[in-house]
Amino acid sequence: MIKNKILYNSFTDWKLNIVKSKGDYIWDDNGNKYIDFTSAWNVTNLGHNHPEITEAIIKQAKKSCYVAGWNADPIQNKYADLLTQALPKELNVCVRATGGTEANEEAIKTARAFTGRQKIIGFKNTYHGQSYATISLGKSPESEVGKAIGPLLDKFVLIDFPSVKASETINQSSILKNFKKKLEIVLKNNDVAAIVCEVGIITGWGSTLIAPEGFLTLVRNLTKKYQTLLILDEVGTGFSRCGKLFGMELEKIVPDIVTFAKGISNGAAAIGAMVTTEEIGEKTYATSNIYSTFGWNPVACAASIKTLEIHKRNRVWEKAKKDGEYILSALKKDLKNNPIIDDINGIGMEIGVRLKNDAKLKMNELIEKARRKGLHLCYADNFNFQLMPSLTIKRDILNKGLEIFIEIVNSIAKKI
Ligand SMILES: Cc1ncc(COP(=O)(O)O)c(C=O)c1O
Repeated sequence: MIKNKILYNSFTDWKLNIVKSKGDYIWDDNGNKYIDFTSAWNVTNLGHNHPEITEAIIKQAKKSCYVAGWNADPIQNKYADLLTQALPKELNVCVRATGGTEANEEAIKTARAFTGRQKIIGFKNTYHGQSYATISLGKSPESEVGKAIGPLLDKFVLIDFPSVKASETINQSSILKNFKKKLEIVLKNNDVAAIVCEVGIITGWGSTLIAPEGFLTLVRNLTKKYQTLLILDEVGTGFSRCGKLFGMELEKIVPDIVTFAKGISNGAAAIGAMVTTEEIGEKTYATSNIYSTFGWNPVACAASIKTLEIHKRNRVWEKAKKDGEYILSALKKDLKNNPIIDDINGIGMEIGVRLKNDAKLKMNELIEKARRKGLHLCYADNFNFQLMPSLTIKRDILNKGLEIFIEIVNSIAKKI
């Protein structure tokens, strides 16, 4: 779709011109005000235009906006310190990037350079970015995008994500057992450089799929057994979204490489990060030759420092956990008898409401209905709502948004 000389992608026909955003609200150019239940897809976790972050970037912009990538501005060193102090001690080397795609590219290159192996394992129908490598990680050559832009990259092996529905508690251990068998078959030739995954919840591009508890521990143990690196993509789950500052804390595992973006600067500037161990960094930096012209520009670092300080100071993850539980229970109660609901599931404030495939619903219409009532939602497939309000949302605004959401889902159920 082209609108006002901008080429958009295909998800949702509704391309609003947003002229103002503040906290949990956005305003379009017709003066309509919406509650934002997307956090711009896990970016503005602390609400739109956080005043402390804005102040930090203005202050830094007056000092310095750019430093060449073979040098460092002191604010970059400060951010590297702050970020690594918030992570397990093994993860103490940062690689600068401008976003999630680039950080994941850096991670894949690093894993190949470190292990001398070429194969990379990803999960089917996942999203890790827009580059060829990150698309190859989650989409098969036979997928719509694979056919359109192919050939995708070689040596990317895609396996099924062991997702489980909220109602399937009994089945969880057998799902995990099955997954273990399949993963071990792929790993046991000792030729896999890395597996790339999120922390047991797939957050990107229209799915909210959750693995049984124990998924991360299992992947960590098996990757260690076969000297395969574990690359954890925390682009969506990082910065309190999952009810922990970082999703890796859910099962207390330490990956070999972790990537961040999105919530890292709360949307105030483009920045991403790859963080790894000293051993991996030392062995690979000379040959993988990673460089990012705009990675960690000082203004983006100022935004990221303030963002992380706020998360830590306010222990934002605690509220995210509590509010996530509140949202899940409200949805489960009020949509209990709704015949089009397939599953309601989530971790922290990353909530998925999956509709039954046979409901043949037009998500665009639902999104439009919600917008008419003042709720901004997003989606990227035909059957799944991802609810991602800001983690700082006030309870009365959250309730209002939930009320609208429940009303539109219930209203379409009546029509079927
Ligand atoms: C899990 C995950 N990884 C990577 C990316 C890509 O990040 P970016 O859009 O900053 O390149 C996204 C973006 O949606 C994501 O959700």
